[in-house]
Amino acid sequence: MNNFAIILAAGKGTRFKSDLPKCAFPLLGKPLASHIIDKLNNTKLFKELILVVGHKKGVFYDLYKDSISYAVQNKQLGTANAVLATKEFFKDKEGTVLIVAGDVPLIPKRLTISFLNYHNKNNNALTVMTMKLDDPTGYGRIVKNKNGKFLKIVEQKNATKEQLLINELNSGVYLADVKLLFKALDKIKPNDLTNEYYLTDIVEIIGQNNKVDIYLIDNPYYTSGINDLNQLTEVEAFLQEKINKKHQQNGVNLINPKTIIISPDTIIEQGVTIFPNTLIYGKNIIKTKSFVGPNTELNNVEIEKDVVVKHSLVTNSKIGTNTKVGPYAQIRDNCSIGSNNIIGNFVEMKNSIIGDDNFFSHHAYIGDAKIGSRVNFGSGSVTVNFDGVNKFETIIGDDVFIGCNSNLIAPIKINDKVIIAAGSTITHDVESGSLAISRVRQEVKKDYYDKYYKKRNRK
Ligand code: UD1
Ligand code: CA
Repeated sequence: MNNFAIILAAGKGTRFKSDLPKCAFPLLGKPLASHIIDKLNNTKLFKELILVVGHKKGVFYDLYKDSISYAVQNKQLGTANAVLATKEFFKDKEGTVLIVAGDVPLIPKRLTISFLNYHNKNNNALTVMTMKLDDPTGYGRIVKNKNGKFLKIVEQKNATKEQLLINELNSGVYLADVKLLFKALDKIKPNDLTNEYYLTDIVEIIGQNNKVDIYLIDNPYYTSGINDLNQLTEVEAFLQEKINKKHQQNGVNLINPKTIIISPDTIIEQGVTIFPNTLIYGKNIIKTKSFVGPNTELNNVEIEKDVVVKHSLVTNSKIGTNTKVGPYAQIRDNCSIGSNNIIGNFVEMKNSIIGDDNFFSHHAYIGDAKIGSRVNFGSGSVTVNFDGVNKFETIIGDDVFIGCNSNLIAPIKINDKVIIAAGSTITHDVESGSLAISRVRQEVKKDYYDKYYKKRNRK
């Protein structure tokens, strides 16, 4: 197997009118280019993927780090010039290369596989994936001679009146022999009309001495290119419906699915119920019999079975079996929460490891903490983890009772079987078996009320 793939993502995406480069724009919360990158990786047919970057390339370096190879196109002189940016990478390589635009997110794995099979079986030097659309606006037209032989691709801007009527179109996905491709690219001249270097010119050049062919697909949706925010919305709606239907087929109960957005990288087991206005982004696993939503956002979350998360926000965290979250809770930054916990309203948890059978029923902040099991963390209590410069850790053992409105000033360790009296500010470690109380003793002034108001009324 000597297959490579080039993904073009150097363009500005002018029609998006945005600071973010088009191919980094989120589609169901996942950057556009990641859709095609993941799908190509899933085929396991490609030795290496080369991402052509240019405009705001740092955004892509941050996204993919060293999980992919890069080629840099310094000036966006057109799609042929973009592919030419990978010349150095390919200088000592032979084989087949797939070229695809980063703004084409829907190409399924099986389509890539059958495209490659077709190309190899027919010994083609170049195969262009094509589609038919009632409205061909914006796409390159596939031009054939009278005998049906594929001659060239003509861009909309360069097309004659007759050519504009052609409804077989260039999807922008190609398979080519590496050596012949780069030989052809060296010969491409800027287009007379636009001054751009058109990748589509390789058809005529390679076709002079070698076999060029087309591969017509039946569902043009798969190769929809996204050129503006309207098209992004359309493709997003298509993908959302497809993903939601798949989950429903698998026995996931989606209540009002039009209001539920689920990323392509989310695994949901049979028997889960998702309520309206729920947004599930990133990579997630939701196990059976859990309830998520309404009005909930999950992002990179693992949820064990029998969990309830309602009206809440959970990011980069794990939630154990039979734990209840919400309403109005936030769990973020690598929390790992055990089973049978109650995390109630207005509770925030950050970067904390929590055992089993704990109550955080209302109004609390738990940050940078390790908490054991069977702890009752009273309302209004907080881990005071930040001194304005550094963050510190709070450790709480098993069977601890933290009374309401306590401040645990970190770094601090509360050992097993401790009671913290309500309203305490705890600054020192507390040893196992003790009660810690740290508050001003109550003073009562008898017969005070009437005297006080009489004095005031005299004024
Ligand atoms: C291109 C094709 C057209 C095809 C359509 C399919 C050409 C000349 N035309 O047009 O035949 O029907 O795709 O969607 O190839 N890019 C770069 N560097 C550049 C220019 C573009 O990296 O200098 C990247 C863009 O980021 C994008 C991709 O190439 O991911 C395609 O560019 P775009 O401008 O969208 O091409 P289309 O006009 O759609
Ligand atoms: Ca495009």
